Order: sequence, then C-alpha cells, then structure tokens
Amino acid sequence: MDEHAPDEGRIDETIFTWGAPPLKFGAGASDEVGFEMTQLGTKRVLVVTDPGLAATSTPHRIVESLRRYGITAEIFDGVHIEPTDDSMDKAIGYATEQGPWDGFVAVGGGSVIDTAKAVNLLTTYPGELMDYINKPVGQAMAPPGAVKPLIAIPTTAGTGSESTAMCILDVLALKVKTGISHWRLRPTLAIVDPLLTMTLPPEVTAASGMDIVCHALESYTARHFTTYDRKQPEDRVTYCGANPVSDLWSERSMSLLAIAFRRAVRHGKEDVQARSDMMLAATFAGMGFGNAGVHIPHANGYPIAGMVKDYHPAGYPPDEAMVPHGQAVSLTAPEAFRFSFGSSPERHLRAAALLAPDHDKQNDPAEQLPSVLVALMRDIGIPNGIGEVGFSESDVADLVPGTMKQQRLLATCPRDVTAEDIEQILRNSIENW
Ligand SMILES: NC(=O)c1ccc[n+]([C@@H]2O[C@H](COP(=O)([O-])OP(=O)(O)OC[C@H]3O[C@@H](n4cnc5c(N)ncnc54)[C@H](O)[C@@H]3O)[C@@H](O)[C@H]2O)c1
Ligand SMILES: [Zn+2]
Repeated sequence: MDEHAPDEGRIDETIFTWGAPPLKFGAGASDEVGFEMTQLGTKRVLVVTDPGLAATSTPHRIVESLRRYGITAEIFDGVHIEPTDDSMDKAIGYATEQGPWDGFVAVGGGSVIDTAKAVNLLTTYPGELMDYINKPVGQAMAPPGAVKPLIAIPTTAGTGSESTAMCILDVLALKVKTGISHWRLRPTLAIVDPLLTMTLPPEVTAASGMDIVCHALESYTARHFTTYDRKQPEDRVTYCGANPVSDLWSERSMSLLAIAFRRAVRHGKEDVQARSDMMLAATFAGMGFGNAGVHIPHANGYPIAGMVKDYHPAGYPPDEAMVPHGQAVSLTAPEAFRFSFGSSPERHLRAAALLAPDHDKQNDPAEQLPSVLVALMRDIGIPNGIGEVGFSESDVADLVPGTMKQQRLLATCPRDVTAEDIEQILRNSIENW
C-alpha cells in the first residue's frame, strides 16, 4: 500500500533541489589548497583540526601550502571528536579571540568539518548555536547572510560533510545529538585527497565506512520527493526526498563500496586504490543523502550516541565513552530496512545487489538487504547490535524519545513511523546476529 498516496485536494510536489560545492579530487589534491584559497580572495585563514590529526604531518602541510601563496595561516587543533555544543563554543571562542579571519580550512573527519562550519557561522554572525539548531531543540533560524569561504578537506572516508549543508553536534544538557541544517553552511570547495586516509586506523575505516553505507541506503530508500505536499519556495528544506539526481550518486556509491570496503579495512595501509574508491564512495553518498535525506537508522543513531554509558571503542580517543557515528547509525540498519522494505521492495533489492552482487539469494526478499548488511558488519568488526555498545532491553524506552525528536529525518522515512515502531526496531537490534 502506498501510504503517501495523494489525498483529495492535495497538490503533489513536482520540484526537487540538488546542490553540492565544487570538488577537487585526487592523490595530492590537498597540496593545492593555497592556490585555491587565493582564488577566494583570502589573506588570513584559520586551519581547523583535531588533536589526533595534529599529531600527523597533514595540518602542517596544509599550512605550508597556504603560506606558499602568501596567506597567513594558523592552526586550531582543539576539535572534540563527536563535537558537543560545549566543544563548538570553545572553538568559536578561540576563533573570535584570535580573529578576524577571512577564510577557514577544515582538515579532518566529520567532527572537524562540522566544527569549522559552526565556527564560520558564529564568527561571521556572533550569536548562540541554539539560535540555529534545528527545531524542536533550537530556533532553526536561517543564517542572516553569506558566511566566509570554507575549504573542507576530509581525512576520513565517511560523513560526506565536505559537501553537505549539515553540522551535527551533541547538546550535552539534553543528551541529544542534533544539528544545524542550512544551505549556507555548505563548504565553498571540497578538496578530497585519498592519500590523507592512508593513516586511518581499521576501526575508524570500518565505522566511517558504515556511515557511507547508511547514507547511500537511506537516501536511496527515502520517501520520494513527489509524495510530499507542494511547498512554497521559502519553505523548501535541504532534504527533499529521493530524486533522480541523488539516486545516481547513491547507486554509484554502493557499487564502489562493494569493491573497496573490505579491502580498505584489511589492507588500508597499502591499498591506495581501495582508499581512493572509498573516498569517492563517501563523496558520492554525500552528494546523494545531502539532498535526498536519511531516515530511521540515522534518527536512531542520535540517541544511541547521545546516551552512551561506558563504551570505549578501539581506534578512537580513549578518554571518553562514545559510540562513533558510523557505528551508532549502522546498529539498527538491518532491522530498519526490514521495516521499510514494503515501501519500495525493488529499491531495497537493487541496493542489496549493488552492495553485494554475489550474496546468496534469501528465501524472503525482505531479508536480502538485512542479510547483506549483517555479513558486511561481521566481516569488518562492527559491534553486534546496540547490546554490544551497552544498551539492554530496559534502556529501549529511554532511547525512543531521542529518535522521535529527529522529525527532520523521520519526515524522509518512506513509511509513517510511530514511537511503537521505533521501540520495536530498537528491541530487535539488541543483537543483529
Ligand atoms: N555534516 C554531515 O553531513 C555529517 C554526516 C555524517 C556524520 N557527521 C558527523 O561527523 C562525525 C564523525 O566523523 P568521522 O566519522 O569522519 O570521524 P571523526 O572526525 O570523528 O574522527 C574519528 C577519529 O579518527 C581520527 N582520524 C581522522 N582522520 C584520520 C587520519 N587520516 N589518520 C588517522 N586518524 C584520523 C580522528 O583524530 C578521530 O580520532 C560525527 O560527529 C557525526 O555526527 C556529519
Ligand atoms: Zn551519517
């Protein structure tokens, strides 16, 4: 049954939007950042990164490239992994005191790129993060105007944040992950250099790679843009539902994941081709989900990460408990795609075939995609369900409201979804195999 069949008197949406920044891709591309910054007319630039990356040579090479082109550049290396309102405020505070800056370079994973987006917004228009954070947590105010040039240079193959309009953070007092979403946050340019990911630990390769898988799958199975009510131009949102342009990127991303993901986890130190394909997959998925949207697995991922108790994953900074984003979003994915299967069986089956062309055919077609996901997650060492990251049956009721708060994401779900549905999905995801 099509749950979004048009009602009498309702006008179908006929318009979709698609956007992404220009892209410079390839081995060595990050060394061209100095030239690119001069093209944007900047003279004093803040390079934003995290302490783990600051211990590698990467941020210093970026600074050298900027200085070669006569740009004054300094490094801020205080980004918190899985940023919080508190950590973003500290970064904004630092940038404000040491400013003004007329441009920013983000060198790092999603944590760094998202922090740089917030720093750019709040140093250009001083105010509070809460003014811009999505409703119902914040005020969802639109940025008053253009922000400064931001070049995003990802060092993980995962979030796609270099091309998205999103900035994700943990609001500590509410124990909820949420974000700011506005097209003005999109970086000015994405420079994607696969060589920067050669040093990624296998655990981060696995988790951030599962983020790509979920971005591609969720956007490909998202509610179709034509099933929404017709919007006024001023009401258009970044996530407009599955559409023909996003579909292309998501499909291609899945084909790249099929050939490269396991290799990148196992042989990431030497397999440059696998690293390059994973970087393309992440960029492509970003161009897909960044416009179409994501749904239940990501909506569940926010309370799973936000309400972490005592889980310390290998490969990540050991000082704080955390469920990395890529793990948090993938743990309920098999069950979420069982739930959404009926909305578009052909899309679920095609996605399974793209991700794992040789996977055994399951008797029940609804099991095909969950079975592909479980096989992949077992192979690359993703925890077995939310149970393994510290949640039990008795926690499920506490997680549900955190998911239901993600209305911006649930609006993209191809089926109407209730709190009871989410509770069932979480319960069935305590163990995935
Ligand atoms: N804005 C978006 O569109 C979007 C989309 C998905 C996720 N996110 C957010 O992104 C964050 C997760 O980002 P992530 O998965 O890219 O990881 P991350 O930025 O959190 O980094 C994970 C770890 O890997 C290390 N690291 C990164 N690159 C490295 C390299 N090349 N070599 C060695 N170590 C390296 C970091 O120091 C850190 O310890 C979450 O906060 C998530 O919510 C944002
Ligand atoms: Zn994600």
